[in-house]
Amino acid sequence: MVKKYRNYDITLVVTHRCNARCIMCNSYKQSSCKQDEISLADIMKLPCSKFIQITGGEPFVREDIEEIVKILLPKTKRLMINTNGYYTDKIVDLCKKYPDLVIRVSIDGNRETHNRIRQIDIYDRAIDTLKQLKALGIPDLGISFTLQESNYDQMIDMYKYALELGVDFGVSVIHNSYYFNKSDNVINDTTPLKAELKKLVNIQLMSNRKKDWARAYFNDMSINYIDRMAMPVKCDAGRSSFTIECNGNVLPCNMTPTEWVMGNLKRNTWDEIIKSDSSNEIMEKCRNCKLNCWSVCNVQSALKKKIWVPGVWFMTHFFAARFRANK
Ligand SMILES: C[S@@+](CC[C@H](N)C(=O)[O-])C[C@H]1O[C@@H](n2cnc3c(N)ncnc32)[C@H](O)[C@@H]1O
Repeated sequence: MVKKYRNYDITLVVTHRCNARCIMCNSYKQSSCKQDEISLADIMKLPCSKFIQITGGEPFVREDIEEIVKILLPKTKRLMINTNGYYTDKIVDLCKKYPDLVIRVSIDGNRETHNRIRQIDIYDRAIDTLKQLKALGIPDLGISFTLQESNYDQMIDMYKYALELGVDFGVSVIHNSYYFNKSDNVINDTTPLKAELKKLVNIQLMSNRKKDWARAYFNDMSINYIDRMAMPVKCDAGRSSFTIECNGNVLPCNMTPTEWVMGNLKRNTWDEIIKSDSSNEIMEKCRNCKLNCWSVCNVQSALKKKIWVPGVWFMTHFFAARFRANK
């Protein structure tokens, strides 16, 4: 029988416990209690969804990460884990058993910069994790780079390094949210960050890899996000993208200053939550939301419904970049 997946992108925050002390994220300061974290039984209540990503905190601090993966793999076409890559053996062992897992390792610059941002000695382990996974033949691997003032000048080098390793390269711009337990992240001088993003956009447009072209669009829109400009498509948070917090709360996204709670999986089923009055209220809040966020998880499903928007951008920018290069 063909499995029916809902057109959902789900982010599952399995813990706020973390071994790192990143300067841009205080998740560890709102550290969840192990015994209160979302249980396997509640994770089972998640609907079959096109895409599910597991994040944290650091997901690999959960002793039952393998059980979580076992529950979620049959529920999705694509299961991603975001990790800081510190627990190399645990990550590699899991991927040996489940080679279809998609892994994104956060790396924010060279050894010195990355360790300073993460405030632990982690760079060598993160790189080793990626290399071991690559050697294992895990097909969908990538580096997640969080762009900020202390590392913008290393973004393009990291992109080139990702190419060398043969892994994907995603950039997200530092921001504040309840999820990072942060409200004081700032970019004092946005100019050099935007200039570096523009360079990356042009390099990616000139590339022969289709994935780079999609990334170029996303990165170009991230420039607008730095200026909090209105986005070309409104995100789909609360309709087709959701965040499930480790306390069981179902939220439209994790970009808001406080948790916008639609319901809780510890008390209700998914369908009860989605059809509830609180869900309707939150969806209304999302419709009026002025945060102008730009996060892959929240916009990718919206973009697929309006594919002509990136399409038009691509047609103009792709040829313009080649024209400039030939001048
Ligand atoms: C919160 S971490 C959780 C998963 C895992 N511990 C890791 O480091 O990838 C998920 C991603 O969010 C990024 N991140 C952390 N703080 C951020 C912030 N303030 N703004 C944007 N992204 C941030 C991290 O660099 C990482 O790539």
